Amino acid sequence: MNIEDVRIVELPKFVDPRGNLSFVEQHKHIPFDIKRTYWIYDVPGGEARGGHVFKQNQEFIVALSGAFDVIVDDGTNKKKFTLNRSYYGLYVPAGLWREMENFSTNSLALEFGSIHYDVNDYVRDYDDFLILKRNGEI
Ligand code: TYD
Repeated sequence: MNIEDVRIVELPKFVDPRGNLSFVEQHKHIPFDIKRTYWIYDVPGGEARGGHVFKQNQEFIVALSGAFDVIVDDGTNKKKFTLNRSYYGLYVPAGLWREMENFSTNSLALEFGSIHYDVNDYVRDYDDFLILKRNGEI
């Protein structure tokens, strides 16, 4: 997988004077079986989260509130995606280094994952990531 496989997905948006509504559906907007949902909130200014690789886990990230950047790196190229609307999601395939930063006050990051939490699915060392990538192991 490389940077080209990361993509922004526009979600349905029902604009309504009573308040807008958006939604996601498995296999329609999210291209995998959803096994897990978690969210990141109350991020203090200047903090970064998620500097790691998921070996198997695919993700779909939505800025439900506020804004933040997702930096994705395939070992050769790096790209920054700014999420600042609740009707866009970012699909991140497995095997890419990714980090989240520049969280605005009160931002809320919702993440869908394709596998259950597994500490062994993480690669947290960037040099290890490059080696795995070079050897074609991720
Ligand atoms: P982690 O993914 O390690 O966050 P970051 O990469 O931003 O440092 O998650 C932090 C902790 O939360 C981790 O040690 C275990 C727990 N956790 C779960 O138990 N289940 C989950 O689905 C996630 C994402 C985290």
